[in-house]
Amino acid sequence: VDHLLGIKYLDKEDIELIFKTADHFKEVINRPIKKVPSLRDITIANLFFENSTRTRLSFELAEKRLSADIINFSAASSSVKKGETLIDTVNNILSMKVDMVVMRHPNPGAGIFLSKHVNARIINAGDGAHEHPTQALLDSYSIREKLGSVQGKKVVIVGDILHSRVALSNIFALKLQGAEVKVCGPKTLIPKHIESLGVKVETNLKAALEWCDVANMLRVQNERMDISYFPSTREYIQQYGLNKSILEGLSKEIVVMHPGPINRGVEITSDVADSKQAIILDQVQNGVAVRMAVIYLLASKIKQ
Ligand code: CP
Repeated sequence: VDHLLGIKYLDKEDIELIFKTADHFKEVINRPIKKVPSLRDITIANLFFENSTRTRLSFELAEKRLSADIINFSAASSSVKKGETLIDTVNNILSMKVDMVVMRHPNPGAGIFLSKHVNARIINAGDGAHEHPTQALLDSYSIREKLGSVQGKKVVIVGDILHSRVALSNIFALKLQGAEVKVCGPKTLIPKHIESLGVKVETNLKAALEWCDVANMLRVQNERMDISYFPSTREYIQQYGLNKSILEGLSKEIVVMHPGPINRGVEITSDVADSKQAIILDQVQNGVAVRMAVIYLLASKIKQ
């Protein structure tokens, strides 16, 4: 694998290698000296054409912990605003001798497109409603850490599946590792042919939660949709919002996840998001080690 464009292009062994490498880096970043000199000779450009808090900072920290040189680019304050194309932008940056590009972009397939036109390793940090591979890796890594393995676990992904790159990448990753996956949400927010990916659809939240070991609660992505798609926010909360009384009414304790950013009081209430059952900040913490692993493994190919 020369790039990380999507989980679709990985196999089970790739994921196992990333997790084994992430285990090592997780131990490293818990030491008093959190840095290793591994990537002193590598330069990485972080290109963000769409807003981000967690992914951008997590990649930056992962790169710094590996001692890479980094440059950060945000489209909002760049010459993209003057009409410069994606390829021109990236080739100009690469001419400064950059080895790897981490890119978030609003267009699905932007990373795939870039990988065919520029000479650098590309990591997709989220491309529109397509894939968010490092999010799915850190999600599976967090399930493995909490429950011992992903194999055989029942995971329900709840909410706006239609507009979610997190959902698609998670489905690919979880299925590769032998988890059972359901999606749950209003019919208007579930893609029509999702069952062809080997997942089942459950429109009743309580039934889905009663079935699962892990619930991954997604944000409703108002920015990606025509408002007419959506049940009203009030209806969404009534039917798909996870609150403490639903959680406590289940016959067993489940693990609650959320990729962030959270719409508190919509898909999840604060008393659930901040509860012991939620591993939301563990996901964020694991993101650094998982991204260190991905960058390290791709960089080792540059050095070959
Ligand atoms: N989970 C995630 O991708 O968050 P950001 O949009 O803040 O990066």
